Amino acid sequence: MSYIAVLPGDGIGPEVVDEAVKIIKSLEDLTDIKYQLEFGEVGGSAYEKHGNPLPEITMELIQNCKAVLFGAVGGPKWDNLDSDLRPEMGILKIRKTLDLYANLRPVKIFEALKENSPVKSEILENVDILIIRELTGGLYFGEPKMQMNEKPERSAVDTMFYKEKEIERIVRLAFTISKSNNLKLTSVDKANVLETSKLWRKIVDELGNSFSEVEYNHMLVDNAAMQLIQNPRQFNIIVSENTFGDILTDEASVLSSSLGMLPSASLSFIPGESNDDKKSLYEPIHGSAPDITGQYISNPIGMILSTAMMFEFTYNQKEISDLLFSCVEKVINDGYRTKDISNSKNYCTTLEMGDAIVREIRSR
Ligand code: IPM
Ligand code: MN
Repeated sequence: MSYIAVLPGDGIGPEVVDEAVKIIKSLEDLTDIKYQLEFGEVGGSAYEKHGNPLPEITMELIQNCKAVLFGAVGGPKWDNLDSDLRPEMGILKIRKTLDLYANLRPVKIFEALKENSPVKSEILENVDILIIRELTGGLYFGEPKMQMNEKPERSAVDTMFYKEKEIERIVRLAFTISKSNNLKLTSVDKANVLETSKLWRKIVDELGNSFSEVEYNHMLVDNAAMQLIQNPRQFNIIVSENTFGDILTDEASVLSSSLGMLPSASLSFIPGESNDDKKSLYEPIHGSAPDITGQYISNPIGMILSTAMMFEFTYNQKEISDLLFSCVEKVINDGYRTKDISNSKNYCTTLEMGDAIVREIRSR
């Protein structure tokens, strides 16, 4: 029996996770893998109940599971808490504890949604990008990290710190994926200013020598932000440090028409290599969207496609993953649209979108 920890979290997290759970249940007959879902609390809702965004009981649950399905965390209610108690600390601690250094964020453009993107359709032609974000280092975790409330002036510091090994492993993962798919790699940094980026660039060049079959280039992050909108087709695989990757993936979601569409996989191993003792986490790239919570207008597709990535990377069932992507595509082609991807006054609810995808799975 394989256990999957399901952590819905805050805001629209529970709404979209409910749909992913429906999907998993509808797949039961299609796979030999026997899994059991174990629900737990994280984020602001966990803080309310346990005084901690990642209570011990949730961490224990995760330790007994092979994969984690994660909704979203955060909300205005908890904005003034100390950093350690904020909902976001729930996800950051899980990433760090499980050493989930590689966050894979595919940016796929569904044909029928091209017209919904503010970017012109012809620019979106043949766009298919995988953004690989370093997830356990950089500004998010570097020390010192604090606010100094001294007089006469307050100050604050965050530290962008990377060890060679941390850069090496994410860049190696990116080269490995590029090599096995015969795709070009773009490494994004700010090497004209930042020391961490200069080291990053050196390591990319060193690894580039041993991956001589992979075509790669470097790009400064400000330029990359512009190029992503101006000429996204030039990118196949992008690898970048934590903060840059966070920002660029929200930006890239505009190409796919909505933040609600993009899934992600957080791994601590190179895909294809043995991962028996490794745990992985799957979450949509969007946040908890407190402004629309409870209206059931959220888009569950980012969460559902994250589930598809779980079948690919945790269970090596690429065929289930492909099936899910194709069912989502069919349902979009059939005209199902949640509010964020609808260009008319008509849209379906979160539940209707999930149900339509389940029906499509059953019909295959
Ligand atoms: C993301 C989110 C998180 C991040 C937040 C919720 C801490 O924005 O997964 O992209 O910044 O990594
Ligand atoms: Mn983000």
